[in-house]
Amino acid sequence: MEEDEGDYEILIKLVILGDVSVGKSNFLFRFVDGQFNPVHVATVGFDFKSRICEIQNLKKKVKFQIWDTAGQEKYMSINKNLFQRVQGIILMYDISKEDSFLNLDKWLQNIKENSNECPLILIGNKSDLIKERKISKEQGENFAKKNNIIFLEASAKNGFNVEKSFLKLGEIICNKNENALDKMNKTEYVISKNTTLIKNKKNKDKKNCC
Ligand code: GTP
Ligand code: MG
Repeated sequence: MEEDEGDYEILIKLVILGDVSVGKSNFLFRFVDGQFNPVHVATVGFDFKSRICEIQNLKKKVKFQIWDTAGQEKYMSINKNLFQRVQGIILMYDISKEDSFLNLDKWLQNIKENSNECPLILIGNKSDLIKERKISKEQGENFAKKNNIIFLEASAKNGFNVEKSFLKLGEIICNKNENALDKMNKTEYVISKNTTLIKNKKNKDKKNCC
């Protein structure tokens, strides 16, 4: 169904960050399409998806416009360009890969240097991998507490906490500055074929979106 400007009240732009293969694309795939791909198809550059849903606590219809980034280091400069354009960040690690957890400090530093201060949620993904777990829930909680950020474990595979993560972050963003959001968020972005960002005020070029 074609969406128009009247279908939602607030547009929230988010970006998902984290090491290679932590599950960023599948997390988004689960949230927007309700699906999961067991094969790792590495994101090249970045991708983009959106979904409208209601944040019930606020009784607001929100359109989430979400950038899915590539975890590979060589794409970091593209990621940095996106940092400035979003109101919220999902930072992800894989509970079965210690490196992805140890690299969180590096990600936070990068975010601090390149983004406007915006709400961030930390996600320990792949919570379904019970036997392969290397990072305990407590370690995730402690890291989040130390850095003053909210934290959830989740699974893109079985859907655990996926919806909750987006809605929670959306709620925090709305509560932070509702008036400013209403004014500034009427401009959307689409991705052209050469992956440059184009302002798309009237939402007409949706077919160009990934
Ligand atoms: P890059 O784009 O290369 O940075 O990777 P990514 O972070 O987007 O990871 P992607 O979503 O492609 O997932 C990587 C692999 O992990 C795939 O084989 C997925 O099926 C798997 N995966 C993702 N999320 C989960 C999860 O919650 N549980 C399990 N068991 N596997 C997952
Ligand atoms: Mg990906």
